[in-house]
Amino acid sequence: MTEPEKAPEKRQRFSGTKLVVAVAVAAALASAGVTALLVNIMERKQEAKNPFYRVVELDDTITDPAVWGKNFPLQYDGYKRTVDQQRTRYGGSEAVARTPTQADPRSVVAQSRLEEDPRLVTMWSGYAFATDFREERGHAHMLEDQVYTQRQQVTKQPGTCIHCHGSVYVPYKKLGDGDLIKGFEKMNQMPFAEARKLVEHPVACIDCHDPSTMQLRVTRPGFIEGIAALKASQGVPNFKVNEDATRQEMRTYVCGQCHVEYYFKGKEKRLTYPWAKGINVDQIMAYYDEDGHTDWTHALTGAKVLKAQHPEFEMYNQGIHAKSGVACADCHMPYQREGAMKVSDHHVRSPLLNINRACQTCHKWSEAELLQRAETIQTRTFQTRNIAMDALVDLIHDLESAQKAGASEESLAKARDLQKRAQFYLDFVEAENSMGFHADQEAVRILSNSINFSRLGQNALRPGGGASTAPDQRPAGAPAAPGSAGAPQGSR
Ligand code: HEC
Ligand code: HEC
Ligand code: HEC
Ligand code: HEC
Ligand code: HEC
Repeated sequence: MTEPEKAPEKRQRFSGTKLVVAVAVAAALASAGVTALLVNIMERKQEAKNPFYRVVELDDTITDPAVWGKNFPLQYDGYKRTVDQQRTRYGGSEAVARTPTQADPRSVVAQSRLEEDPRLVTMWSGYAFATDFREERGHAHMLEDQVYTQRQQVTKQPGTCIHCHGSVYVPYKKLGDGDLIKGFEKMNQMPFAEARKLVEHPVACIDCHDPSTMQLRVTRPGFIEGIAALKASQGVPNFKVNEDATRQEMRTYVCGQCHVEYYFKGKEKRLTYPWAKGINVDQIMAYYDEDGHTDWTHALTGAKVLKAQHPEFEMYNQGIHAKSGVACADCHMPYQREGAMKVSDHHVRSPLLNINRACQTCHKWSEAELLQRAETIQTRTFQTRNIAMDALVDLIHDLESAQKAGASEESLAKARDLQKRAQFYLDFVEAENSMGFHADQEAVRILSNSINFSRLGQNALRPGGGASTAPDQRPAGAPAAPGSAGAPQGSR
């Protein structure tokens, strides 16, 4: 910022030949600058036209990405590379060899999270997740991983599962005689195996793109309904995502179709995103409290509990990047230059494997510095997560002992309710796959609330029930902070 002020001073000191040289250099720089600008303008015009060779005519019935790939070979190449597995410190995924069996023909899977941290088995005791839970990997694997997880063996899963694990757009429309939502409702209620037969591909081009314009679009009923409920809660009624969202929002919403917390509502097993009160963890917890939904009964304590699933969209929304207008695609699908064209990298993966393009377009820090900053956030989150997990496991064991010792129903009920809260809050960070990066301060706030819920649960088991109100989280007399958990939660 100080450059312009210094410049005149310098120029006055030029004299004679120095001036001639300076003028020549300036002229050369100026013409180089003009050329660069022209190239830039041409590139931008090219991008605007988004030139491609129409080898095939695409329409709204073609699911197979290989057909789309004939028109867009660069994007298709990237898309195919989502088979790759590479581990980062807290993310990515590791390729673990396994001996294929008839029940599960996969020869490579991702590492088991249950083996990495057996406390998860205690936390999810009695739920299918305690039998098999692995690190997630690239999009190419989503269908097979869903079919062969042992969670399919221990419970009967509904067709709803496929909403986020396959290219369901065309199958939904077929099932619903042209009506997407009708088809969705029908598939939700099918047994998984039956629904699976209707789907051929993992998430495909048609799920995010309009075939005639290639514009981004949302095709998932869960998100179409969820985002409308969220907007309504913010005073925007009848929000139609494909008409009302900006392009930059769409660069996030296409991912929010699946990377969200969800549950199956009622006996229709309708896939529902619990956003009608808002999308931070307190609002989602309040939604479930009102709705009364719980996922399972904890096998060791009898508590009716909830598991959070991959709330990337929700957590990202609480973070500095979302607030600054940065979209999922900016980091996970950054532009790469191919000749005169800019192409979005369709090899969706950890940005930490691609810092140069994923981060350095905006940040001038070195790659090493960026990696270090991201990992510092993640390590802090991981340590706090571990404390919260120990606290929860302690509460679970205390509840088990209190049950055996014949504690009063009242104190058990109170402690079980707090177990549910401690578990959901912890899971909200645990199941979120960025290890805190998407919203670092929010992650630590959530974990400290989780620790507090466990503490209050242990208090509730003491003779006399203990003091079981959560401390008010604001200084005396101050207005409630937006998104703060507030006092009432601990006492419910
Ligand atoms: C500012 C950049 C940025 C934005 C924006 C962003 N992410 Fe991330 N994301 C990251 C980083 C960094 C990680 C950590 C990766 C790691 O640990 O290897 C990550 C991790 C993830 C992971 C786990 C990846 C893995 O390899 O384990 C998923 C899934 C994910 N993000 C989805 C999303 C979604 C969906 C959105 C938008 C709602 C989003 N991200 C927005 C940077 C970003
Ligand atoms: C709302 C979208 C959505 C629905 C519905 C959904 N999933 Fe997923 N699933 C995801 C996302 C996103 C990931 C990757 C992130 C992660 O693993 O945390 C994933 C990952 C997985 C994985 C790989 C990691 C692991 O957990 O071992 C399996 C297996 C899986 N899901 C099975 C299922 C089953 C079974 C159902 C139905 C009960 C289901 N999914 C329903 C979005 C969904
Ligand atoms: C149709 C649902 C769906 C959509 C849409 C979707 N994802 Fe995913 N994503 C998944 C599932 C399911 C997995 C886990 C697959 C598995 O483990 O087999 C996954 C895995 C990932 C991973 C982990 C990759 C790795 O190598 O570990 C990242 C990162 C990711 N998604 C980011 C995104 C981003 C960014 C977008 C938007 C551009 C997006 N996803 C759109 C369902 C989806
Ligand atoms: C999970 C969603 C998702 C899927 C699946 C997907 N894309 Fe994209 N695609 C995007 C996003 C996000 C952009 C960036 C669009 C923007 O900035 O307006 C994009 C951009 C594009 C563009 C515009 C030029 C560019 O590279 O930015 C083309 C062409 C394209 N995709 C083709 C494909 C093809 C072909 C497939 C299937 C092989 C595919 N896409 C699958 C999300 C997706
Ligand atoms: C499209 C632009 C953009 C991209 C891409 C981007 N960032 Fe940022 N980042 C920002 C903005 C804007 C802020 C807010 C602070 C500011 O204004 O400088 C920020 C803030 C941060 C912070 C400070 C966070 C905090 O809580 O104070 C870190 C660390 C960071 N980014 C790391 C990354 C990493 C790592 C990546 C790649 C995975 C990345 N960013 C990608 C724009 C971006």
